[in-house]
Amino acid sequence: MDHLEVGALWQRSAQAWTCLARGGFDVYRDLVNTPEFLEMLPDVQGQQGLDIGCGEGHNTRLVRERGASMTAVDISLPFARAARAGVADQDEVLPVGIASALELPFADATFDFATAFMSLQDIPETELALQEAGRVLRPGGFLQFSICHPCSDTPHRKHVRNPDGTEVAIEIGRYFEEDPIEIVEWFFSAAPPEAREGLDPFRLPRIHRTLARWLNAILDAGLVLERFGEPVADDELCTARPEVADTRVVPYFLHIRCRKPSA
Ligand SMILES: C[S@@+](CC[C@H](N)C(=O)[O-])C[C@H]1O[C@@H](n2cnc3c(N)ncnc32)[C@H](O)[C@@H]1O
Repeated sequence: MDHLEVGALWQRSAQAWTCLARGGFDVYRDLVNTPEFLEMLPDVQGQQGLDIGCGEGHNTRLVRERGASMTAVDISLPFARAARAGVADQDEVLPVGIASALELPFADATFDFATAFMSLQDIPETELALQEAGRVLRPGGFLQFSICHPCSDTPHRKHVRNPDGTEVAIEIGRYFEEDPIEIVEWFFSAAPPEAREGLDPFRLPRIHRTLARWLNAILDAGLVLERFGEPVADDELCTARPEVADTRVVPYFLHIRCRKPSA
């Protein structure tokens, strides 16, 4: 499976994803993953940024609210359209191109920084995606991205729960098996049946790469590792929103910031 085949799958899931994400059912993104990503993000005020694999643009707009001038790309047309328009009529249009992360339609060294929220993990050509992101960064610019944590999102993954249903562990296995790429059907777990009605489940690839492969791909792209994050809900959030309390059992997400060396 290559990036274009993955793109075709995203194309078919984009509408349901946009509808449910904008309905507030992507709770891990909204409550845990994105807030910690933004906390780790350096000051981007006045900088030119690129968001790679922007989806419906929610996170791109949050970065723009921090004062950056944002451009975005997504491989899927329905996502690009949704991201451009935003949610409300008065939302400012976002410049969004339809392009693959492997063929970014920008000259070398165009951007001060790039973000990729949960999108690089969807590209089978991991090394090429990191090289291409590095190509469009100015010397001294950074790439910050989030992925499912390679150490817990393995091909074998089973939730272990107490009799009362509380999650206590995740059984993982087949860590070193990167192929074949599996296609899985799912909905956001927080979406109730009435929200799912009339929508087809997402049908998307689950691409697993080992932690060593990710880190070596970054280094081979000529980027320097700078900062890491493993988002987790704190006590207050777990009490208010118990549906994300399982983020405390094992790390679900990994955040990495790396930088292109200055010339
Ligand atoms: C999990 S969604 C994340 C969307 C968004 N970044 C967010 O955080 O809400 C992954 C996104 O990556 C996009 N994508 C997948 N493969 C891509 C590729 N090769 N180039 C650009 N975007 C891609 C998908 O279309 C989808 O919008």
